[in-house]
Amino acid sequence: MCGIVGYVGNGSARETIIDGLKKLEYRGYDSSGIAFCTDGKIEIRKCVGRIHNLEELLSKETLDSHVGIGHTRWATHGAPSDVNAHPHANGDSSIAIVHNGIIENYVEIKEWLAQDYGVNFLSETDSEVIAHLIGVYYNGNLEDAVYKAVDKMRGAYALCVISKNEPDKIVAVRKDAPLIAGIGHGCNFIASDIPALLKYVREIYLIENNETVVITADEIKIYNAQRERVHRDVFHVTWDADAAEKDGYSHFMLKEIHEQPKGLYETLHRRLDENGEIVLDGISMTKADIENFNKVYIVACGTAYHAGLVGKSAIEKMAHIPVEVEVASEFRYRDPFVDDKTLFIAISQSGETLDTLAALREAKSKGARVLSVVNVVGSSVARESDDVFYTWAGPEIAVASTKAYTTQLMCMYMIALYMGRTKGTVEESYYRAFLTELSEIPEKLKAVLENESEIEALAKELYKKEQVFFIGRGPDAGVSYEGSLKLKEISYINSFAIAAGELKHGTIALIEKDTVVVALATQDKLFEKMLSNIQEVKARGAYVIGLAKEGNKEIEKQADKVIYIPDCIDEITPLLSVVPLQILAYYIAKERGCDIDKPKNLAKSVTVE
Ligand code: F6R
Repeated sequence: MCGIVGYVGNGSARETIIDGLKKLEYRGYDSSGIAFCTDGKIEIRKCVGRIHNLEELLSKETLDSHVGIGHTRWATHGAPSDVNAHPHANGDSSIAIVHNGIIENYVEIKEWLAQDYGVNFLSETDSEVIAHLIGVYYNGNLEDAVYKAVDKMRGAYALCVISKNEPDKIVAVRKDAPLIAGIGHGCNFIASDIPALLKYVREIYLIENNETVVITADEIKIYNAQRERVHRDVFHVTWDADAAEKDGYSHFMLKEIHEQPKGLYETLHRRLDENGEIVLDGISMTKADIENFNKVYIVACGTAYHAGLVGKSAIEKMAHIPVEVEVASEFRYRDPFVDDKTLFIAISQSGETLDTLAALREAKSKGARVLSVVNVVGSSVARESDDVFYTWAGPEIAVASTKAYTTQLMCMYMIALYMGRTKGTVEESYYRAFLTELSEIPEKLKAVLENESEIEALAKELYKKEQVFFIGRGPDAGVSYEGSLKLKEISYINSFAIAAGELKHGTIALIEKDTVVVALATQDKLFEKMLSNIQEVKARGAYVIGLAKEGNKEIEKQADKVIYIPDCIDEITPLLSVVPLQILAYYIAKERGCDIDKPKNLAKSVTVE
């Protein structure tokens, strides 16, 4: 949510920052801007719209510098507009800032600055107060002024600051919003996220909460909240630069859909030893810990929450422990019963989702053991957890999550299986058979992807519809929620998902002639029940797209169209069944001319409440 890039060095700040912002555009894309220290002053250029608008604005002049900060915005306070875009400056434009996060007490600070210092504010943002605050405190040392300003601020921030009086440096600080510093040769960088810097550096420092960084061309100095210099180990990034490129696909989303067999293979095999045993290297949870748990909470947001729904069934079935799944924004304010017998599982692709992070802290403070399922190595959720089970999806750039979801599911199955095996609630034969099924998934998924053109044709038939329902039972209900979210977030079609058995308790009132219903019927033991549900909606005129396992031909008699997935055990069908739904959403959005990788109003990483 909002992307930040800063550069200090001998090269072109403009080129590096624009390039980095393009890589971060998934974090927010309603406006963007850049500030340079040049010729004894600060120059700011900013405008509403995508980065290419900023490029166009800059193309009219040769403005550049060796020091600069840039920002791509996801609006919280104040509508997307030129004036609300970052960077923001203080009154005499001696200080400029870019900010990701929310300053909760900005009204209070604003009033104080207006009354005591006669400050005029140009924008409606909370962020602008930071520039004025630092300006008021500035007394020849930028770090001092930033420390004083931060002392007065409440909320979340990743903040980068430049001053015309100290034109060779950037001062940055973070609290509950991500920030990394990139180590270059004769130049150094600061950014919200690794993809921004992949083209330039592989060695980075992960900046911790409440730390301040002072970056010059030769040095990166990190200080803690007490202003003591801290040593930080260099973090080596293993992603290659191509991983953050489209690689010939028309969208990142399509590329990422196709990367799922590889992501699933990696996620599984990196935790299997040569004897096919699940190994939890680096995870300190012991047999005694597992036996001690009497409750599991799975907490996450959006797609990651949907992965949790599937995880619940797996853990309850295999480890015989009651599991509650909850959205993080509810959990954190509910005062849930958590103690030292609770296993808290946080699921997050980015590892920076603020609600998930806050829920994790809440659970930890009550004594829970925290295991997280995370994609981004070194992210806040990963760092604050007792143990991390990484998904090996690689960087997910498209705002709509695809490969993160399926790799999260893979982790949940493996965690369930491991816990069950450790507790003795899973028998050896079941354990082996289940792992064999999981290991066959990447190849089966390739078969699903070969049907892409069939689903594309279906999308061409459906793209003008204004309402689509998704129904399913058991694990299919969880996948219905995810299929519906995918469709609505990228195509803007009004979509709703419901457990099929619940339909007749109210929602069926909305079914009428030609309403599209996607009915997931992959569960052998629930197949006949689903056929009845399909009949119920057909009787009210619905147009039904069935989704079933190969061989279950009976569904063809009820549904208008059927999509088949390869046969596998009921428990793990979500790994396959979600993929046709991702493809369907993708092609429907494409037919509707939507901006698939950057849907309106959304951002990839939600670092505000
Ligand atoms: C939807 C989507 C979001 C995220 C949610 C949590 O396609 O991507 O619903 O799943 O914002 O994000 P993470 O997993 O980064 O915590």
